[in-house]
Amino acid sequence: MPLIERTSMYRGDSLYEPRPAEITAVEKLTADENLYTIRLDGGGPLGHDPGQFVQVSLVGIGECPISICSSPTRLEHFQLCIRRAGEVTEHIHRLDAGDTVGIRGPLGHGFQVHELHGKDVLIVAGGLGIAPVRSLIQYILDERSRFGAFHLLYGARSPAEMLFQTDVIRWRENKDVNFHTTVDRPDEQWRGHTGVVTTLFQELPKLDPHETMAIIVGPPVMFKFVVLEVLGRRIPQKNVYCSLERRMKCGVGKCGHCQANNVYVCLEGPVFRYGELKALREAIG
Ligand SMILES: Cc1cc2nc3c(=O)[nH]c(=O)nc-3n(C[C@H](O)[C@H](O)[C@H](O)COP(=O)(O)OP(=O)(O)OC[C@H]3O[C@@H](n4cnc5c(N)ncnc54)[C@H](O)[C@@H]3O)c2cc1C
Ligand code: FES
Repeated sequence: MPLIERTSMYRGDSLYEPRPAEITAVEKLTADENLYTIRLDGGGPLGHDPGQFVQVSLVGIGECPISICSSPTRLEHFQLCIRRAGEVTEHIHRLDAGDTVGIRGPLGHGFQVHELHGKDVLIVAGGLGIAPVRSLIQYILDERSRFGAFHLLYGARSPAEMLFQTDVIRWRENKDVNFHTTVDRPDEQWRGHTGVVTTLFQELPKLDPHETMAIIVGPPVMFKFVVLEVLGRRIPQKNVYCSLERRMKCGVGKCGHCQANNVYVCLEGPVFRYGELKALREAIG
């Protein structure tokens, strides 16, 4: 019996076969990360849940898993934030508007937004973790009346590495979200908060623990300390979600590359409840 009773949310023919899609815009976010706006050939929505990912492929080069960083409520296109890391992502960074990529998915198990409806939401994101969770942030802001209080804490290593700076300015001005940012290493221009992301918890009002859903997305080292803060505020473990990145190849439960204990992260995740993750101790190290 699987450790986690769940199946992939993905249904459809392009599980194995990439669909051609056009890059309609490329925005440079930082020295190493670009934001790609993409439209499937023939149009139509991707049909994803926030937190799901796609496999992006280039003919003759390869493919890699990338989180969908735009909300399913934005129907015309979807967006991917891609860090230059190795061969495939380096080639993607050479592409421009008008170029074609292959898209498999949406894949994996994302955030079940109906479980968040009517609840207060606390999102804590660190580094590139803001990319998968931006889809959910946009969703909450687009469907604002379905949610209670919305708190968003985002930490980056330095101001230059802060992603989605246009969004950051908008979120700061938006009364619909209680938004705070911090950097570990400020530069001369930085006038904001300095310190690791857990230091932003002092900016939060008193939370109603049983009405609050907490979502944590970031590197493992951040995850451990943020969980302590969240549980310290008496938020039950069943109300805590996180998104886990493992090395992946196929993305559809066939190759075993993503396996942690007896769980295929590509099928059962990347979004897990904290209680499930505790069972996957190997995965969080
Ligand atoms: C579910 C999921 C969602 C992801 N979402 C994003 C995203 O939104 N944006 C983004 O930029 N990247 C994301 N990644 C990571 C991305 O898939 C890798 O950076 C990419 O596969 C690297 O491929 P490459 O051929 O360019 O580099 P490779 O030559 O394959 O690798 C380059 C370097 O990156 C390391 N690496 C490769 N994959 C991973 C990984 N999963 N975790 C940590 N290190 C890795 C390799 O060990 C190597 O050191 C995600 C990964 C997963 C599994
Ligand atoms: S990536 Fe192949 S089984 Fe998960």
